[in-house]
This record gives sequence, structure tokens and C-alpha cells, in this order.
Amino acid sequence: MDQYLVYGNPIKQSKSPTIHKAFARETNQNIEYKIQLAELDAFEETVKVFIKAGGKGANVTAPFKEEAMAMCDELSEHAKFSGAVNTLTFKNGKIYGDTTDGVGLVNDLLSQDVTLENSRILLLGAGGASKGVVLPLLHQKPKQLIIANRTVSKAEAIAQQYNDQPIQAMSFEDANKEAFDLIINATSAGLSGSGVPISENIITANTICYDMTYGKELTPFLKMATECEAKQVIDGLGMLVGQAAESFYLWRNVRPKTENILSKLREELNT
Ligand code: ATR
Repeated sequence: MDQYLVYGNPIKQSKSPTIHKAFARETNQNIEYKIQLAELDAFEETVKVFIKAGGKGANVTAPFKEEAMAMCDELSEHAKFSGAVNTLTFKNGKIYGDTTDGVGLVNDLLSQDVTLENSRILLLGAGGASKGVVLPLLHQKPKQLIIANRTVSKAEAIAQQYNDQPIQAMSFEDANKEAFDLIINATSAGLSGSGVPISENIITANTICYDMTYGKELTPFLKMATECEAKQVIDGLGMLVGQAAESFYLWRNVRPKTENILSKLREELNT
């Protein structure tokens, strides 16, 4: 049976085994998928042991995505631009690295009938989560993609990677003066309980609000979006399933359906 793992620290909370096992059942793929805690100073070593034992691939989550990138022999375009790897494939003695978060986000948005082509998108944050989704968003041909961040220079550094693309960096203050079709929260601000520093004025009945995180309760950003009666309010559970589906596809060359497992996870979250 082909073996796969997800590495992280901590990792117990990961839903990846549940998701991949559901994909495997649905597509009749005979695989095993487990969680693996890696010690903070021993990530590379732990991966090499798995490769030696015949492992076929692995997902990588915090805090190892950059280290995972550093140990790859070949990188996808998405991984190069995002500076991080969440999917490792071990094949022909080589390590291939990709990042599927952005495709997962885009597929989730499209599956919920969000129009990305020709739209004005505001991406909040300029950390790892943000970097990982910029290229797939640009591939959807938005009219404009604005990256706003507390530390504006970090948003500028991302925007500069993409020549000839409709992308621009801004402060939150300047972004608060514009109008957007879609606002995506990629900051970690919601995790600590505080909200993102955007004004309620830019969330109207025509704005779709998406938070890359999810939880039992609405995130502070999505709570604000709900109060402002945004057009659609979406959390990141679909992105989680979407990135897993893309990893599964890279490994198995079969595209799993995401609806059933997404409903199951949603149900679990709500109980
Ligand atoms: P991740 O990998 O989750 O993106 P990260 O790389 O540490 O984590 O990035 C965190 C992001 O959330 C950054 O954009 C950070 O802004 P700075 O670059 O200015 O630090 C943003 N962030 C975190 N807490 C925030 C807060 N309270 N208000 C606004 N932005 C915040």
C-alpha cells in the first residue's frame, strides 16, 4: 500500500488523514495516510527516513513549509512564487515540491460561484498564507489584486514578484478608500481574537468576504462581514479540502470529489 504522511508541529489537530482517506475510498485508491509529528530541529532527517522506507509523498504544514521547499530537487511554479511547499512527492529518487493552497482557494471560490475574472480583489496580509495564493488568483485574470498589510513593505515585496500583472500593494488605510468585489483575509489577526483593520464601509451588499481560517464560531472578519450584510460570507474549510484534493491529484493523478467530505467536516464543526 502506498504510504503518505502529513508533517507538522503541532500536528494532532490535522484533518488531512480524514480528508485523504475519504478521497481514497471515493476514488478506489489503495493508500495509507497518517499524521507525523516532526521535531522542530529534525524535519529533513524525518522526511529522509520516510523516503528510505518507501514513502510516496507528504503534506507539510506549519512550521516546516520553507524547510520543505529547501530540500526539494524540483519545484513547481506555484512553489517558487510562494516560497513554500505543502506537497512533497518522492519519485525516481527525487523530491518534487508544490504548493496547493492557492489552487485550493481558487477552486473553492469557483465552486461557490464567485466570479474572479475581471473582479477587484483585496488580499489582507502578506505572510506565508498570502504569498501562497497570489499566483493562482492572478491566473484567474482579476481586474486588480490589491495586497494590504500592516507592514506595507512586505506587501510591496510580494507585488514586485509579478511583472506586468494587475497587482498593487497598499496600506490598510488606503485600501479602506477603495471598493472591492472580493476581500480575502490571509492575516493571522483573527486567530488571536482581534479583527482585521479594515473599515466596515468597504463591505457592501456587493462584497464577498472570505477568511482562509475556519472554526466553530465565525472569525472576527466574517462576523463583521455578516453584520455588514456582505453578499457572501465564506470560511476556509473549503480551501482546506481543496488544497488536499490538489495534493491527492498530484500524487494519484485522479481528481477526487470534494462535496461529501466537505459536508461531513462542516457537520462535525457544527456539533
Ligand atoms: P501566515 O503564514 O499565517 O501568513 P505569517 O507569515 O506570520 O503567518 O503572517 C501573518 C500575517 O498576518 C502578516 O501579514 C501580519 O502582518 P505583518 O506582516 O505586518 O506582521 C498579519 N497580522 C498578524 N497580526 C495582525 C494584526 N493584529 N493586525 C493586522 N495584521 C496582522
